[in-house]
Amino acid sequence: MKSDRRAKMIFSVGGGKGGVGKSIFSIASSLILAKGGSSVILIDLDLGAANLHTYLGILGKTPTIADFILKKVSSLENLLVETSQRNLMFISGAEFIPGMANPAYWIKLKIMKHIKQLPADFIVIDLGAGVHFNVLDFFGISDKGIIMTVPEPGAVMNAYSFLKGALFRKLQGVFRNHPDIGPMIDSEAKKTDEGEGFSLEWFSEKVKISAPDMFPIIEEIEKTFCPSLILNRLSEGQEHILVRNLVNLCIEKLGIAVEYVGNIPDVREITYYLLNIPKFYFTREGQQFFTAVQKIMDRLVKPTEIKSQESRTKVDFTDEEVKEIIDIIQTLDDSFFSGTNRDLWKLRMYFKPLQVINFLIDRGIKHKSFYI
Ligand SMILES: Nc1ncnc2c1ncn2[C@@H]1O[C@H](COP(=O)(O)OP(=O)(O)O)[C@@H](O)[C@H]1O
Ligand SMILES: [Mg+2]
Repeated sequence: MKSDRRAKMIFSVGGGKGGVGKSIFSIASSLILAKGGSSVILIDLDLGAANLHTYLGILGKTPTIADFILKKVSSLENLLVETSQRNLMFISGAEFIPGMANPAYWIKLKIMKHIKQLPADFIVIDLGAGVHFNVLDFFGISDKGIIMTVPEPGAVMNAYSFLKGALFRKLQGVFRNHPDIGPMIDSEAKKTDEGEGFSLEWFSEKVKISAPDMFPIIEEIEKTFCPSLILNRLSEGQEHILVRNLVNLCIEKLGIAVEYVGNIPDVREITYYLLNIPKFYFTREGQQFFTAVQKIMDRLVKPTEIKSQESRTKVDFTDEEVKEIIDIIQTLDDSFFSGTNRDLWKLRMYFKPLQVINFLIDRGIKHKSFYI
């Protein structure tokens, strides 16, 4: 496998509460993608309580993320193990070492960087429970964040807290070094009252006043932050009132759109296959379960989806798009251009647009007009 290729699409599966089916769905979705002919890497990042190896029926000792953290291996690629499913490789999170569940920030960054470089069509990341920064940060690197919940008020409220946390963390990351906005987000993040205060709308109003040049970036986040919601353990076709409430709550209180992408039936028989979920696929009851997962994946992997930043970056731009991108450059913080020249980049947009786009993408700026 070539290691210099970027992953086409990274999914991460989170949701706040433990036991809602994140790990089972991570495996089921990976199986569906691999059976469809794509190469898939499934990563267990529930670093405190990894259990995907058990669900996959992998019994022998395999390398784990711990080997990467302890520098026994230099690349995540060294940890890949085969599974019983063709095209599906696995990175185990098992084996406990002190500090494993809460890795230092630089280790986290290193793991995230390596994940992005893994060679596969799809990467699926199974996250742990809770709304700690380490879980939210891993959630934040995905192209598509998936929130799992079950139809119980506690789980739904946890999903809401997770979404709120993920939004905060995203804003914190983007505006970390901004002298006015950075501290503003930090002080909001400390407030614990769930019902009051923060919404993206409220936040953009504040930004409009204190740092108007940053406003387009907020608009960007508003457009692109759209996690997908899955309701597990429900009869098919039956949408639950709690989900509607959750989606509405996200719009009203946080100002973010959450897309409900479907539900998965409660299938009792799955409990007989917890030591080998891939085997469950071939059973009658498994068909019902996997059909629901297939439907969800069809919805998540739309043909129009941005597949790979490199291969789908535009080469030609209309005059309007050129102007739009120049406007973005104009609004970026000075520190963004450290060592280079803002005006030069604006100028280059007229004759070397691809170079400008790659410069912006490399520094974390994404915009729909960059891609085909
Ligand atoms: N659709 C389902 N139908 C029936 N049981 C399920 C379903 N999804 C998950 N479970 C049960 O819930 C348990 C917890 O699932 P798991 O994926 O490990 O949760 P999480 O990763 O969110 O902690 C599983 O052991 C399984 O028995
Ligand atoms: Mg789990």
